[in-house]
Amino acid sequence: MKQYEQQVKKLVSQMTLEEKASLCSGADFWNTKAIPRLQLSSVMVSDGPHGLRKQSGPADHLGLNDSMEAVCFPAGSAMASSFDRTLIRHIGQLLGEEAKSEHIHTLLGPAINIKRSPLCGRNFEYLSEDPYLAGEMASSYVEGVQSQDVGVSVKHYAANNQEYRRMSTDSTVDERTLREIYLKAFEITVRNSRPWTIMGAYNRLNGTYCCENEWLLTTVLREEWGFDGIVMSDWGAVNNRVRALQAGLNLEMPASDGLTDQLIVDAVKDGSLDITVLDNAVSDLVNWVLKGQPETSFSGEYDKALHHEESRKAAAQCAVLLKNEANILPLSKRNTVAFIGPFAKVPRFQGGGSSHIHASRLIGAVEAAKTLPVIYAAGVEADGETRSEALLSEAISAAKQATAAVLFAGLPESFESEGYDRTHLELPACQNELIEAVAAVQPNTIIVLHNGSPVAMPWLDHVAAVLEMYLGGQAVGAAAVDLLYGDANPCGKLAETFPLRIEDTPSYLNFPGDGQTVRYGEGVFVGYRWYDSRHMKVLFPFGHGLSYTTFAFDQLSLSSETLTDGEQLTVRISIKNTGLLAGSEVVQLYIAPPEKQLDYRPAQELKGFEKTALQPGAEKTVTFVLDTRAFAYYRSSNSCWYAPSGCYELRIGNSSRNILCRASVTLKTKPPRLIYSESLTMGDLLEHGMMNAFGALLQDNALFNANTSTPATDENTALTPEMMEAMLGGLPLHAIARNKTREEIQKILDLG
Ligand code: BGC
Repeated sequence: MKQYEQQVKKLVSQMTLEEKASLCSGADFWNTKAIPRLQLSSVMVSDGPHGLRKQSGPADHLGLNDSMEAVCFPAGSAMASSFDRTLIRHIGQLLGEEAKSEHIHTLLGPAINIKRSPLCGRNFEYLSEDPYLAGEMASSYVEGVQSQDVGVSVKHYAANNQEYRRMSTDSTVDERTLREIYLKAFEITVRNSRPWTIMGAYNRLNGTYCCENEWLLTTVLREEWGFDGIVMSDWGAVNNRVRALQAGLNLEMPASDGLTDQLIVDAVKDGSLDITVLDNAVSDLVNWVLKGQPETSFSGEYDKALHHEESRKAAAQCAVLLKNEANILPLSKRNTVAFIGPFAKVPRFQGGGSSHIHASRLIGAVEAAKTLPVIYAAGVEADGETRSEALLSEAISAAKQATAAVLFAGLPESFESEGYDRTHLELPACQNELIEAVAAVQPNTIIVLHNGSPVAMPWLDHVAAVLEMYLGGQAVGAAAVDLLYGDANPCGKLAETFPLRIEDTPSYLNFPGDGQTVRYGEGVFVGYRWYDSRHMKVLFPFGHGLSYTTFAFDQLSLSSETLTDGEQLTVRISIKNTGLLAGSEVVQLYIAPPEKQLDYRPAQELKGFEKTALQPGAEKTVTFVLDTRAFAYYRSSNSCWYAPSGCYELRIGNSSRNILCRASVTLKTKPPRLIYSESLTMGDLLEHGMMNAFGALLQDNALFNANTSTPATDENTALTPEMMEAMLGGLPLHAIARNKTREEIQKILDLG
């Protein structure tokens, strides 16, 4: 039952047709319409996701006009790298507090689209290439925000993985890929944390605009996953308002100046729109409005200084130490260090577009290190992309004078933003040149990166350390200093693979499509699923991240050697801090399917992770509980998740490429009823262990019996069982049971 069911029923029953239709689009850019005579108030929504962009003046959805001051937390790519549910929940709670104190009813985030290509301009806002990680992180975010009685809008639903022609392009994706990769994070979030709203994406999916896609908005979202909130459109994403309403879109944003409200009224009047469709949509809308009443929940000023400090701590926990040769880091506070690069003074800390925050404060590394023996040189012009001979020489001499050089590099704003995609992975040429020049004179060169998504590192072998800060929010400079000098210990892990070359990436040949259509030709092989299945070399693998301490993984144990439908398997692993400093490690659990299935399943998939903080010498047991769904793939022919019987490997490690313990479990599951289709082969029956049906079909087959009744006399014509299986495996059932009807074959299939 909906929270305010009785009140909603009463209100909707008192509304005129025009009033109902009026609620289905915004009053202006950020507010919904009120119905004063029924005391139904208007509510305000605002971006999101990593800070509040409340606009009280001129409004826009591209981050062009100003907004109220707010605290800028680490962007999505950084947040996900924490692999830390508790931290993300906490950030969500702080965001919720800010939203509440600014009378914001619903925050437009989290943004959870899968990083299909590292080139997507909006990847900085998104969480991961892995749907399980993205879903878990998003669930924690939603729990945090909604704990403050502020709603969220989980966006952008769905398959909106590029900026190129983002408002019209048609993402062509097969159902299995959708279910396993692009819908999965939404499914996890909806099931785990009941978000108040979902935002329908701009693009089309398999020919239909997402905001008009009934399968997406109603069949899957509401009927299968039990979503009970409202779906709002992305800003300007509605194409045909009446069709969108019928498909399950409650709210069009922003305002349509009454035009589309009138279309709804007309459609009800001429009978083309069933009034109950409108009533249901409006009931959901009213229920949503009543959930958060800003007048009553307003909590006054929040503590900006405290939130800034929390943002600093968060940025340190999100950063990923990619390389640390000979433990060059942490640095000693006694030695003179050269900070080089304009980002050392003014860090790039957030991305461009609708998530752009008016940050309450910004602290760069130079300012944060003002009590330490640090010298500064820019090395390149302030924009980060213009070369200067004079600044280059100055940087080289600063590097020579110091015991170490920390070079703050990264992508300038113009390189990545909402609205357009990158075309390559390179840093600006002048920064690469600066890094090489500094590294040539200073063996202790450390690179700090400020970027929203992976970059190529042609200089990697020439530098001693690389610290990935991502776009770490307004306190990122201070967090970088905390990490560089050991006041904080790095504990982030890459939530995306860093590829060696753009040509290696899974969607390379299909991204961003031809302008009309983008074909998701790589299927489920996204991110590490692609690189690991193809045994490809990468720059840094998914899940990678170093620490200043060391950890040992040991005593992997399973509660059982077998697992069947309805049962649970408990996996335990002990982890010990074997170093000298306190630190946190992320235990990652991957599942590899039985070898025979490898050709159509990724080599391994992340199915569990747990971040654990340990004092030196301390030891803990980490526990994962799995059921057969964790082993399943989506079987489109049966429209269900299915984990075939067989022996699966459980792999525990601290990156997808550093597996430290392994164990096996045998699944004994019941295959779904095999429904006859013309593409079913005898091999499918073998794979499903359907020996009765297999035998019955063979026995009945004249062609086969004729061929096999005479035993082969000549060695050359003898068929081995493997050859027989391979030959028979490819035979379609309709070819072997030519005299049978569909119904008759189905009966044989049902023999099992
Ligand atoms: C973005 C959304 C954002 C909305 C409102 C759109 O352009 O895609 O993520 O919430 O604008 O600013």
